[in-house]
Amino acid sequence: MPAPEKDLAIAAREVRKKYPATGKEQPPALDGFELGVPRGTVHGLLGPNGAGKTTAVRIMATLLEFDHGTVRVAGHDVVREGRQVRRRIGLVGQYAAVDEELSGRQNLVMFARLSRLAPPAARRRAEELLERFDLAETGSKRVSAYSGGMRRRLDLAAGLIVAPEILFVDEPTAGLDPAGRREVWKAIRGLVQGGTTVLLTTQYLEEADQLADHISMLARGRVVAGGTPGELKARVGNDWLELVPRAEADIPRIGAIAAPWAVGGDIHIAQGRVRVPVVDRTHALLGVAAALRDDGIVLDDLLIRSPTLDEVFIHLTGTTATGHAHTGESDLPTDQSQGVPA
Ligand SMILES: Nc1ncnc2c1ncn2[C@@H]1O[C@H](COP(=O)(O)OP(=O)(O)O)[C@@H](O)[C@H]1O
Ligand SMILES: [Mg+2]
Repeated sequence: MPAPEKDLAIAAREVRKKYPATGKEQPPALDGFELGVPRGTVHGLLGPNGAGKTTAVRIMATLLEFDHGTVRVAGHDVVREGRQVRRRIGLVGQYAAVDEELSGRQNLVMFARLSRLAPPAARRRAEELLERFDLAETGSKRVSAYSGGMRRRLDLAAGLIVAPEILFVDEPTAGLDPAGRREVWKAIRGLVQGGTTVLLTTQYLEEADQLADHISMLARGRVVAGGTPGELKARVGNDWLELVPRAEADIPRIGAIAAPWAVGGDIHIAQGRVRVPVVDRTHALLGVAAALRDDGIVLDDLLIRSPTLDEVFIHLTGTTATGHAHTGESDLPTDQSQGVPA
């Protein structure tokens, strides 16, 4: 049941934003964008590169004008009451101007002073935040010597000098290794326990799954699907079986045999492979393997793996994340289109 508008920390309706033409004609960055985030929850805005995540965050944070629609954040209209909104939000991500030459502690004191805390209060706040983000020991090191995970935790701390009601976090783990990513996840989980509403953008399905109470999937400037991580996984499949037949001629037969195990009966065929979204991988693996054997079909390979972001989009929307109709082999995205940073 959707929360009533007044209980929403963020409510965006029919938002449209087109950047001024930059030479070649571009579609709008946001086109009918809608979002409702209840207070005290973590909302994941999941989408590939160019989907409009940063544009949406900048609009909600009052940093960017838009052409059409309404956006209310913390109960205030971002256009007419920008000042009230800014007082209640924090913003972390591709913005924080952390000084590489200063230590983590010096940076936090500087940000606290910029937020008008008196010097003793600024020092106290810096210590609290260093402690909270596991940076106390490395607080005197220069930021230029920080690991990626430490650096991102410092960004988070800088966004929390004055505890905001709503925190926007734009791709907090882009470019981090798995260890750094886990550190940042832990830090974000800690925030939520303090009652902050968090809007997190990410290109990683797993990240949204780990952190968010609710996920909205964004493609081409519009939310194309949404639900709890559990609901989305039930629609997409927790795992995908990938079957590679010895003889390509067997593909249609394999599809027919595997269909009863596929979530929604949807089989995806591309590049000489049959992909089957499944809920219970052990059950599906054993069942499909036995049925294929009984039919005399020989496989070159059989894999179990998590769906890629593009597969999720295709499965839920029938189009790739970048907007091509999914008509089969010819236009199936390669795995690079997942947008994993180089
Ligand atoms: N300052 C800008 N000027 C013109 N086009 C932009 C600008 N910023 C973003 N865009 C375009 O708007 C679309 C959405 O971009 P963005 O919001 O950055 O997506 P994401 O954060 O999901 O990668 C993209 O097509 C991008 O090229
Ligand atoms: Mg972005």
